[in-house]
Amino acid sequence: MTYTNQKRTLGEFIFDNQSSFAYSTGELSKLINAIRLAAKITNHEVNKAGLVDILGDAGNTNVQGEDQQKLDVYANDKFIQTLKQRGIVCGIASEEEEDFIAVNSIDGNNNNKYVVLIDPLDGSSNIDVNASVGTIFSIYRRISPLGSPVELKDFLQPGKDQVAAGYVMYGTSTMLVFTTGNGVNGFTLNPALGTFYHSHPNMQFPETGRIYSVNEGNYVHFSKGVKAYIKYCQKEEGDRPYTSRYIGSMVADFHRNLIKGGIYMYPRIGPMQNGKLRLTYECNPIAFLTEQAKGKATTGTKRIMDIEPTELHQREAIFCGSIKMVEKLEEFILNED
Ligand code: AHG
Ligand code: MN
Ligand code: MN
Ligand code: MN
Repeated sequence: MTYTNQKRTLGEFIFDNQSSFAYSTGELSKLINAIRLAAKITNHEVNKAGLVDILGDAGNTNVQGEDQQKLDVYANDKFIQTLKQRGIVCGIASEEEEDFIAVNSIDGNNNNKYVVLIDPLDGSSNIDVNASVGTIFSIYRRISPLGSPVELKDFLQPGKDQVAAGYVMYGTSTMLVFTTGNGVNGFTLNPALGTFYHSHPNMQFPETGRIYSVNEGNYVHFSKGVKAYIKYCQKEEGDRPYTSRYIGSMVADFHRNLIKGGIYMYPRIGPMQNGKLRLTYECNPIAFLTEQAKGKATTGTKRIMDIEPTELHQREAIFCGSIKMVEKLEEFILNED
């Protein structure tokens, strides 16, 4: 029997791979370390939900027009606090904050290099029912000059310029999965020791799969091509019908499909012509992970990571997962009349 503590720890992995991280400064390693810490703090609270007064509505509406949950607020505060204190990040943008937050360097000279964009608690409608939730993060190098305050343009870079991205999944076990542009690696938390171990090296999407994940309650609003693809998934032919699986937490749906093979879809829908998911906090980091895991992430007609964002909270349609499944979907969209 192999004990998990014989695997490399996240700390050891970061140390061993420092030179292969983009720009290979020790700062990106420190930043991943800060995320590891905030993930552990949030995990501790998520695990206690139901015992302490952390379930339910916080009583506010966020900039997305959604009712903020208490855990949305808690995770947002913890990630922001932890990232602010490290002297690496010059700005933070969050799904839960209307504007970005500027962070000065410890010496007051505005020379921190990185910006972080976060979805602090993804799948917050699942909190009260004890189903999986997550945190998603996306990291860029600033493009404004060092020595000046961070600017909006630092946060509106296309996804292809990300230097790192990942997610934490608070599921049956807690995992941190991330990429720095050299493949995707997954780490599982041993809660007794408070240590993440390298449980899932070099994660890759199977080329094809048998799972499709979409909120079919929105079917009536989908485009003809998306409807036709869903009918294709359900048709009895070859290895079909496929299996439908939808948790309603993008992180958890994506994670399952990454391991088993599948396609995740959040198309444009009637009331939300640009889809629901946020380009900067959800689509871009998930797209970076998808491509690094040899999958494909598209709006249906365009690569997600090529989009030039124009607004912090902009929404975009997304289809991502096993390459052959996403290509098939694109075929249906291309050929819709
Ligand atoms: P968040 O909880 O961060 O607002 O994200 C919710 C997102 C995503 O996690 C999930 O896949 C999707 O919304 C579910 O939306 P529907 O309930 O419309 O299917
Ligand atoms: Mn939300
Ligand atoms: Mn989300
Ligand atoms: Mn969220």
